[in-house]
Amino acid sequence: MRRQDAAVRDGPAKASIKDTLAVLAEVVVPTLGKGVLIRRPRVVALAERLNLDGRAVRRMQYLRRKYGGGPLLLAVPGRPQAMILTAEHVHQVLRGAPEPFAPSTLEKHAALAHFEEKVSLISQPPERAERRRFNDEMLENDRPVHSMANRFVTVVDDEARKLLSETGDDLSWDAFITAWYRVVRRVILGHEARDDQNLTDMLAKLRAAGNWAFLHPGRKQLQRRFHERLKEHLKRAEPGSLAARIASRPNMEVTASADQVAHWLFAFDPGGIATFRALALIASHPEAARRVNEEIATAGRANREELPFVRACILESVRIWPTTPAILRETTEDVQWHGGVLPKNTHVVIYAPYFHRDDENLPEAHRFAPDLWLEAAPARRWPLIPFSEGPGICPAHNFVPMLGSMMIAAILEKHRIALQDPNRLQPDRPLPGTLDNYTLRFSLANS
Ligand code: HEM
Repeated sequence: MRRQDAAVRDGPAKASIKDTLAVLAEVVVPTLGKGVLIRRPRVVALAERLNLDGRAVRRMQYLRRKYGGGPLLLAVPGRPQAMILTAEHVHQVLRGAPEPFAPSTLEKHAALAHFEEKVSLISQPPERAERRRFNDEMLENDRPVHSMANRFVTVVDDEARKLLSETGDDLSWDAFITAWYRVVRRVILGHEARDDQNLTDMLAKLRAAGNWAFLHPGRKQLQRRFHERLKEHLKRAEPGSLAARIASRPNMEVTASADQVAHWLFAFDPGGIATFRALALIASHPEAARRVNEEIATAGRANREELPFVRACILESVRIWPTTPAILRETTEDVQWHGGVLPKNTHVVIYAPYFHRDDENLPEAHRFAPDLWLEAAPARRWPLIPFSEGPGICPAHNFVPMLGSMMIAAILEKHRIALQDPNRLQPDRPLPGTLDNYTLRFSLANS
C-alpha cells in the first residue's frame, strides 16, 4: 500500500444515490454521448445549444461544496468509481503514473483496442516504457520546436495555399479538416500519402466502433486492412516525414510502431478541432487578433515554428473546450489517502472542464485569456491540463500547438477572417460550455 503524502483536507467520501444519478446524467452521459474517440456532430450541436457542459461543471462544483475534498466515490455497483474534486488531488494522481495510477484502464482499453491494441496509453509496464519512449523520441515531447519543424512549415504553407484558393471567401469545417488531414498525412507518412483520404476514413470507422467500447464486437477485417495500408506507407520511409525518422530508429517488435502511429493519425483530429476553434476565438476577439497578426507579421516565414502567442490561443482553445474531457486512471494497488483508502482497481476520473471552467477558483474561467499560458509557473498550480501532466502527459503537447499555429499563420498571413455568425462568440459575454466546430464558418477577405 502506498501513501500519497500531499496535504489533503478530507478522505474519500461516498456520494448519495441521488447525487450519483445526477453525475451520471449530467457529466457521464453527455461526455459519452458526444463520442469519446470520434465526435457525433449532432450531439455536439445539441450540447452547445443546451449548454450541457456548463451544467456538468456546476454539478461538480456542487459536489465539492457538499462533500469537501474527496475523492468522491460514486454509488455504482461493480468496481469503485472515484471523481477527483480538488486541484491537489489532480496533481497527485497525474504524478503517480503509471503506478499506482495507471493510464491504462479497462474502459480505455475496450475503446482503443478497436484499432491500436498496443498503443502506449493502454499498455502495461514493462511494454509501456518502450512504447512511451518511442512516442517521446519521435514527437520530441520536451522540445517546443520539433527538429523537423522547418520541413513541416513548407508542407503547411503548401496545403493552406491550396485550401485558400479552393475555398475563396468562405471557409467551412469540411474544407478545413480535409486540408488539415492532408498536412497530417504528409507530415507523418510523406507526400505519397497526401491523397489517401481512405486511410483516414477507415480509421474514422474504427474510431466510431471504438466509441461503443465493450458494446461493439469490433471490425477485425477493417482493422487488418487499415494496418496493412498504414504499414505500406511507413515502409516507404519517405524523406522529410516522421516515417523516415521512425525507420532510422532501432525499433523492436515490442515497440509496435504502427500502433503508435495509428494513435497519431487519430489524435490529429482533435488537433484540427482545437486549431479551428482557436481561429474562432481569434476572429471574435479583436485585441487578440491584433496580437496574433502582429506576431505573424514580425516572425515572417522564417520563424513560423515559434509564435508563442498563437500557440497560447490554441492552448486556450483546449482549455476552454477540452478535446479530452475525461482523464482516466486506474489504481494498481490499494492507495492510502489522508482519511481513507482508494482500493485497488478503482477507476479514477479527472473531469477537465470542471477545473478549466471553475469560476469559483479561476477568474478567467469563461473568457479567452491566452496570457494564462504565457505567465510564469506559480499561477499554474491550478490544473490546466488539456494535455494531462506528469509521466502520462500527451507526448504531442508541443507538437499540436506547433503545427496548429503554423496553420493559423498560413491562413491569417494574407487574410482577415470573421465568424459568419458573430453571435456565437462575443468578447463581452461568457464563452459557451462547448463550441460546435462542425457548423463554424468563416468569411475571408484579403488583408
Ligand atoms: C488537441 C489535441 C490533443 C490533445 C488535447 C491531447 C491530449 C492528450 C491527453 C489528455 C492525453 C492523456 C490521456 C490519458 O492519460 O488518459 C494524451 C495522451 C497521448 N497523446 Fe495526445 N492529445 C492531442 C493530440 C495528440 C496527437 C496529435 C498525438 C500524436 C501525434 C498525440 C499522442 C498521444 C499519445 C501517444 C498519448 C499516450 C501517452 C502515454 O501513453 O503516456 N496526442 N493526449
